[in-house]
Amino acid sequence: MYQGLLVMRKFLFVGITFAALLHFMLHIFVQKKTISTLPTDAVKEFKTCYNEKFRLILNMSEIDPFLCQDIRKQSVNLGSSKLDLPYGTRRAERFFDMALKNLPQCNLPEEIKNISCKKCVVVGNGGVLRNSSLGKKIDSYDIIIRMNDGPVLGYEDDVGQKTTFRLCYPESIFSHSLHYDPNTTVVLLMFKPHDVKWLSELLMHKRVSTYGFWRKPAMNLIYKPHQLRVLNPFILRQVSQNLLNFPISFPKTEKPKHPTTGIIAITLAFHICNEVHIAGFKYNLTSLNSTLHYYGNETMSVMAQNEYHNISAEQMFIRDLVEQKTIKNLT
Ligand SMILES: *[C@@H]1O[C@H](CO)[C@@H](O)[C@H](O)[C@H]1NC(C)=O
Ligand SMILES: *[C@@H]1O[C@H](CO)[C@@H](O)[C@H](O)[C@H]1NC(C)=O
Ligand SMILES: *[C@@H]1O[C@H](CO)[C@@H](O)[C@H](O)[C@H]1NC(C)=O
Ligand SMILES: *[C@@H]1O[C@H](CO)[C@@H](O)[C@H](O)[C@H]1NC(C)=O
Ligand SMILES: *[C@@H]1O[C@H](CO)[C@@H](O)[C@H](O)[C@H]1NC(C)=O
Ligand SMILES: *[C@@H]1O[C@H](CO)[C@@H](O)[C@H](O)[C@H]1NC(C)=O
Ligand SMILES: *[C@@H]1O[C@H](CO)[C@@H](O)[C@H](O)[C@H]1NC(C)=O
Ligand SMILES: *[C@@H]1O[C@H](CO)[C@@H](O)[C@H](O)[C@H]1NC(C)=O
Repeated sequence: MYQGLLVMRKFLFVGITFAALLHFMLHIFVQKKTISTLPTDAVKEFKTCYNEKFRLILNMSEIDPFLCQDIRKQSVNLGSSKLDLPYGTRRAERFFDMALKNLPQCNLPEEIKNISCKKCVVVGNGGVLRNSSLGKKIDSYDIIIRMNDGPVLGYEDDVGQKTTFRLCYPESIFSHSLHYDPNTTVVLLMFKPHDVKWLSELLMHKRVSTYGFWRKPAMNLIYKPHQLRVLNPFILRQVSQNLLNFPISFPKTEKPKHPTTGIIAITLAFHICNEVHIAGFKYNLTSLNSTLHYYGNETMSVMAQNEYHNISAEQMFIRDLVEQKTIKNLT
């Protein structure tokens, strides 16, 4: 009896190995033509976890997700030097120069580059995460992307405790050391020249001017300079114009619509990940009494009144991505 089982297990093992090998070889055969056009160090990754859907969404444009010191060259190549913030660098070059000079790094952190198939989860701040018990699941991903001041502290059971990337801007970055995480890379979104000026002042330990902000910005940096990156404005342009199809100009009577941090985070994930799941992105605009975030007491009515975003356009975009199985929604 025992002997029989052993033989059967051996048989199964050989069968499965053979099937796997066949599958692998077929894969290579189908993809051979494209592989040869790729740089050699990308080949290993390509075979195992290349994501064609993400490349199609990003319109084949592979760019450095973060700005480096040679911003003028980077900007001219992408056409960013002809556009103002948040979609370009025009009229803020001087501030960018000062800020970027004081940032020691502009690449993906080494330990992230080393992960060959990056499975990412983008955690939105939506109230749908309340009592979700998704914490352990979220922490199991290679890369966990959070945004703004969505706290981890006190909400670990529902949202997890690890943060690989956190996208924020001067008005939404944590300034209390309670929230400090040495393993986080902060990706700064620059919406206006004042934001870049703010960053350069903080990095040069100058007095921070609070003029020109819609809410008091952080007056101190809890993160170390090596943990900071500046998002390439090209990505914002990509989200707004190519993915959400926002108009390029708005009538004087209307506030220009900009993408939310959440959609920008999902798009950044398309640039750096091989698989993207999301959680906490469900907003029900008709239920004005429901809680907006998984923390605090703000209700959906705050979001529904927001003139700077087009939440319905974003919800439709996310719905399409989920329906096309480009991303998976955990909530
Ligand atoms: C990343 O991989 C390189 C080369 O394989 C290795 O030298 C380096 O120590 C690794 N770095 C981290 C942080 O894992
Ligand atoms: C979450 O769970 C707590 C305790 O189990 C309960 O008191 C609370 O009403 C729940 N909140 C929601 C939004 O379901
Ligand atoms: C940061 O990462 C290290 C190494 O993976 C881990 O030991 C440590 O607990 C992490 N710290 C926090 C605050 O998550
Ligand atoms: C894709 O990129 C090309 C040029 O690189 C541009 O002409 C075209 O409009 C882009 N399409 C979309 C949908 O972004
Ligand atoms: C949104 O909220 C309204 C009112 O509370 C409810 O009737 C509707 O079913 C909700 N829609 C979704 C998609 O949950
Ligand atoms: C929303 O809240 C207000 C005040 O708290 C209450 O009067 C109203 O009935 C609530 N509406 C819904 C649909 O729950
Ligand atoms: C939210 O409301 C509860 C109960 O009304 C209150 O105890 C709590 O302090 C409020 N939290 C915030 C952040 O305002
Ligand atoms: C939001 O986007 C939708 C879909 O693209 C569009 O129909 C609607 O007019 C937009 N709303 C505003 C206020 O721009």
